[in-house]
Amino acid sequence: MTDIARLKAELDGQSPRKILKAAFAEFDNIAISFSGAEDVALIEMAHRLTDNLQVFSLDTGRLHAETYEFFEKVRNHYGINIQFLFPDAGEVEDMVNRKGMFSFYEDGHAECCGIRKVNPLRRKLQTVDAWITGQRKDQSPGTRNDVPVVQLDEAFSTAEKQLIKFNPLADWSSKEVWDYIRMSEAPFNELHKKGFVSIGCQPCTRPILPGQHEREGRWWWEEATRKECGLHAGNLISRQ
Ligand code: ADX
Ligand code: SF4
Repeated sequence: MTDIARLKAELDGQSPRKILKAAFAEFDNIAISFSGAEDVALIEMAHRLTDNLQVFSLDTGRLHAETYEFFEKVRNHYGINIQFLFPDAGEVEDMVNRKGMFSFYEDGHAECCGIRKVNPLRRKLQTVDAWITGQRKDQSPGTRNDVPVVQLDEAFSTAEKQLIKFNPLADWSSKEVWDYIRMSEAPFNELHKKGFVSIGCQPCTRPILPGQHEREGRWWWEEATRKECGLHAGNLISRQ
């Protein structure tokens, strides 16, 4: 069993690069979960630290065209293979044939995110010992303030297997991420040039206005403190 308290004591306050290095030293079977700018910063750092880089992305089927182009840019730029995980076709068909294409505006995003993101993520996480995310503390008011650099993943660990989750950028601000992206000339999603900051699925993401918090561009019809789609359900579990 991984000694999480020891890892946390060692890694608290360390740079994202040091945290990644320690994560790769501790785990061979570990993957970066990739969708946005933060994750590219992690891939940029990680591809210099290991020859065994595993990167996966959840293709919900509802992403922007620009996001698919960005995925391809990242694949080519780093010469890496990105594993795409798709939702179960039967589950999607059942939902949209019963409730239409935009049921999340009516009864919340939990069901659709559950089918399109969380179930495929669970399938992937069953195959690894640890995963790495681009979560930051200041990314979401009320749900990510306490994100640690390393934690037991309470949402996806099972009775048989303890799953460890690294959040190397927990203490970075959005500005630090973007300074790093510009400095390293890493690829980014073209939507960022159009006022989008935090980017998820097309129907559930919108650009923000000056002064708005980045999370206001996601699931804007729902309450700020519940804006987790289930990928990081542990953030809500630990607050209950
Ligand atoms: S979300 O849960 O609200 O959608 P957010 O967009 O803030 O997440 O991203 C936080 C982290 O979750 C990302 O840095 C990435 O590690 C992971 N993530 C989010 N969406 C995806 C996705 N579609 N595929 C893989 N990882 C994702
Ligand atoms: Fe469905 Fe919106 Fe969640 Fe994407 S973000 S999975 S479209 S509810």
